[in-house]
Amino acid sequence: MAQTIKPSNAWRFKGNELKYLREVLRSGLSGGPAGSMNARFEEAFTNKFGAKYAITTNSGTAALHQTLTAFGVAPGDEVITPPLTPFMCTSTILMTGATPVYADVDPETFLIDPKDIERKITSRTKAIIAVHTYGGVCDMEAIMDIAKKHNLYVLEDCAECFLGKDKKGRIAGTIGHAGSFSFQATKHMTTGDGGIILTNDEQLAERIRKFGNHGFINTKAGRRMVKAMKDVVQDPDYLRHNGLGYNYRFSEILAAVGLAQLERLDIFVENRIKMAQEYAKAMRGVQWLHPQKVAAGETNSYFTFAVRLGEKIDWREFRKKYMELGGDGIYAAWALAYREPASEIISQEGRLFPDIPDQGKYLKGYLRSPKCPAAENLQPKMLQFTTNQQTAAERKAQVTALKKTIAFFESRPELA
Ligand SMILES: Cc1ncc(COP(=O)(O)O)c(C=O)c1O
Repeated sequence: MAQTIKPSNAWRFKGNELKYLREVLRSGLSGGPAGSMNARFEEAFTNKFGAKYAITTNSGTAALHQTLTAFGVAPGDEVITPPLTPFMCTSTILMTGATPVYADVDPETFLIDPKDIERKITSRTKAIIAVHTYGGVCDMEAIMDIAKKHNLYVLEDCAECFLGKDKKGRIAGTIGHAGSFSFQATKHMTTGDGGIILTNDEQLAERIRKFGNHGFINTKAGRRMVKAMKDVVQDPDYLRHNGLGYNYRFSEILAAVGLAQLERLDIFVENRIKMAQEYAKAMRGVQWLHPQKVAAGETNSYFTFAVRLGEKIDWREFRKKYMELGGDGIYAAWALAYREPASEIISQEGRLFPDIPDQGKYLKGYLRSPKCPAAENLQPKMLQFTTNQQTAAERKAQVTALKKTIAFFESRPELA
């Protein structure tokens, strides 16, 4: 019986991953002659992106939590975020005890709308999370102007945007006060799970690193630990913690994979852009498919190829037909953050878990009728096409499936 060969993801790990892993293990996790793998990876990342400090961490979510905390975000503060993005942008704000305030997205770029950010600012606003969703880059010029005017911090969430550039050619993640990245398995580069934060601000870098490293006194901006004399540390009187923190550290083993992945990041990004260009070409002139708008001069790094489906076609039917015709799948947009049951449980009942009363009572009532009509309109119609195909043949298979799907729906009387 003929077997369909499913493309494998193994091609993503055919660089120096094993070489660097061997170095780490042979050094007994203590850093070989070339030094700690985390330090090597952080340095390579700062060089690639052009920032002063990089701090590795064990997820994109940890990266958001660390950075918001380092901004000084605390109970009573508000942080502006879009609702059309994974829930972690909301949950990490809640973890600081602050309140998420939702700014709507632009209906064409699908990204946070600077005009709505400005409308949502109050005397309690402390920070803005600019999420570069699907690989598109937010209007950073407008966002930084607003932040300056109102004295706010800006965190760029680049989990879905590696080497994207704004219309001035600046790399996403290096424009705001800090930029966070995720290395979760679906991302442009991956270590299975993991993340990194970029900043040019030494004080922020030190706080970010310290919060992810137990609040250890000898954590500095550029390094996890400053080597203290063994005899100083191994003393019953030695005091270790001058701050509060979690263990959000990234292991040396993961840093080895990260360094190898970073060396091939350009290829990973180029592949995604090539796939996106082919989808765009196949959709040109189709009145009921509206791809994410890219501003002149901007580089979208296409985590996915995001498209708004016209009103007359059912989302589930489109996806089913595309897959029947050989498409490898379409991701749905996550439900708007303020629609998730977690938001309602926390806000209405002050619970963090459905079955423990009062644990989150300080957050009770934080959802004050959020209104984001553009996001509400877009979310159920959003098609996210995959872009991580390796070969020209795999890309062609997707485009062929897409063209057949378009032809199928075009022949329908309701579209005539
Ligand atoms: C925009 C965005 N922010 C944050 C995250 C969280 O990253 P992680 O899964 O590494 O915790 C993700 C994805 O997973 C994401 O897509």
